[in-house]
Amino acid sequence: MCGIAGCTGMSDAGKFLLNALKRLEYRGYDSAGMTLTGDGFRTIKVAGKVADLEAKYLSDPYLSLTGIAHTRWATHGVPSENNAHPHLCCNGRISIVHNGILNNYLSLKDRLEKAGHHFLSETDSEVIPHLIESLYDGDPIRSVSQAVEQLSGSFAIAVIFKDHPDQIICARKGSPLVIGLCTGCTLAASDVLPIVPYTKKVIYLQDGELASLTPGRAQIFQIKSLKEVSAVIEDIGVDESSIQKGAYEHFMLKEIMEQPEAFLNVMEGRVDADGEQVVFSELLHYAREMTSFSRIIITGCGSSLHAGLIGKYFLEEIALIPVSVEQSSEFQCRNPIVEPGTLVIAISQSGETADTLAAVREAKAKRAFVLAVCNCENSSMARAADAVSYLHAGPEQSVASTKAYTCQVLFLLLFAISLGRSRHLSIDRERELVQTIKKLPLFCKEMLAAVPQIRELAGKYSYARDFFYIGRGYLYPTALEGALKLKEISYIHAEGYHAAELKHGPIALLDASTPVIALIGKGVGQEKTIGTIQECLARHAPVVALASETSGEKLSPGIDRIIIPECSPLLNSVITAVALQLFAYYFAKEKGCSIDQPRNLAKSVTVE
Ligand code: AGP
Repeated sequence: MCGIAGCTGMSDAGKFLLNALKRLEYRGYDSAGMTLTGDGFRTIKVAGKVADLEAKYLSDPYLSLTGIAHTRWATHGVPSENNAHPHLCCNGRISIVHNGILNNYLSLKDRLEKAGHHFLSETDSEVIPHLIESLYDGDPIRSVSQAVEQLSGSFAIAVIFKDHPDQIICARKGSPLVIGLCTGCTLAASDVLPIVPYTKKVIYLQDGELASLTPGRAQIFQIKSLKEVSAVIEDIGVDESSIQKGAYEHFMLKEIMEQPEAFLNVMEGRVDADGEQVVFSELLHYAREMTSFSRIIITGCGSSLHAGLIGKYFLEEIALIPVSVEQSSEFQCRNPIVEPGTLVIAISQSGETADTLAAVREAKAKRAFVLAVCNCENSSMARAADAVSYLHAGPEQSVASTKAYTCQVLFLLLFAISLGRSRHLSIDRERELVQTIKKLPLFCKEMLAAVPQIRELAGKYSYARDFFYIGRGYLYPTALEGALKLKEISYIHAEGYHAAELKHGPIALLDASTPVIALIGKGVGQEKTIGTIQECLARHAPVVALASETSGEKLSPGIDRIIIPECSPLLNSVITAVALQLFAYYFAKEKGCSIDQPRNLAKSVTVE
């Protein structure tokens, strides 16, 4: 979604801002712009990529110490130069960038227009500079605080004033903003990635706070009272090397390949040194809450929701606790029963997904104990929940979630064991499960070695316009995830179905041009899925089966196969997901798609 960057005191603000926007590109956007201060303001915008903005800037560069910049993901109004940020007020002396959505912009716009303000864009954001202009009496801090007090919705903003060319005012409610502290200069950005090369010292602006940034100094105030607060300066827990693509062509491939190591990171500190017990030390403080609930609701969106669906299977099977899985936005659309004694687990890679954040707030309002499971640290969700556990999967920059998804599944498996142990699970069974899980990185490496075979199959089926993914048990949510991966990065229609559901309707769509990706596990579902494959073949649908050597023994000859390592059914969903990620990746590559930044998508979806 939208990305904000700002700097003051930087020797070449234009260069910094362009680099910062490049580091925010992964969030997803459709237009970009920046304002630099100097003798006056220099504002440039493009309805396109940061590279286009850079070319425009370099055709007539402007040396400046201070500026703000933005990548826009269109909500109100099409992607165009007019709608791109920054937006200026009528006299051109105030420039702003905004991330979020303003619910009351129409009434504000109406009022401001009646007062003579003239609007140039279709955006909600443009009310902000006009509102500030209407309140400005020479004091930037006061006018911004008075203006944002009138905004309803979510925002992170950065504002500059022609009269105060070295100062940036930022404010936040609901959308993230990080301030970087360097000697002689101060930075602002939507996340830490643009800041990492310059400093490790950051302040995470909190909801309801306003910051005044001048070269080398950041003062933080409460928006309401304008009382100065002493902000906590924290160390960024991300190093530069972990956010580079390295030798990989795409972040997605890098992140797929990083999974064995990411699994070790999820297990580190949670599986004891002897590999026998699972301990969630970050949750020890909540021992009472973790043992007193009788029901769990898991909530999330997209891939995180799919991980939650597998988590339900783990928790019910291993910990014997009833679990329901709720799509996050349904928490508000319907009125799910959240009894006292319910644990709500909110899963989110980014920790910023607006739907999930709203679900967290709703669950808390209903007195549930909320555990957030996030990958990004210091996120809004981590702060809004009662407790937080971090995945430690490492930064994920490709829009399509890969390692964060599989690490979420692994996390939920470990969590199920830990809850089971605090209830009924025997020490021997715990030891057995832990020994099984410890093999996951090795199985994953084995799966990753199948790249040549998977790439070839992706090429073979690249003609197809529709795919079905089917599975049973743990492999049912895996089918949903596999289909999501394919559609988001290759723009090909792909549907995930429970294998048994195919015959209840979707089978009508099968013909020789509709490949079926069949995920075959072990146990009860295995023979039934092989039966479903026969039904697909009888309708001339080509089938690609993902199965281990033994579970695929009964498949008819001639079916294309991706061999899954011979692992426990508990790990099968993770390993099969890795194969499906590779299939989607090479399929999209074959089609020449923009893999890391697919059209219309954003890495963290901060609007409801
Ligand atoms: C995953 O590939 C998607 N890009 C998307 O579905 C994502 O999982 C969803 O938007 C939720 O994001 P979150 O985990 O950051 O909350």
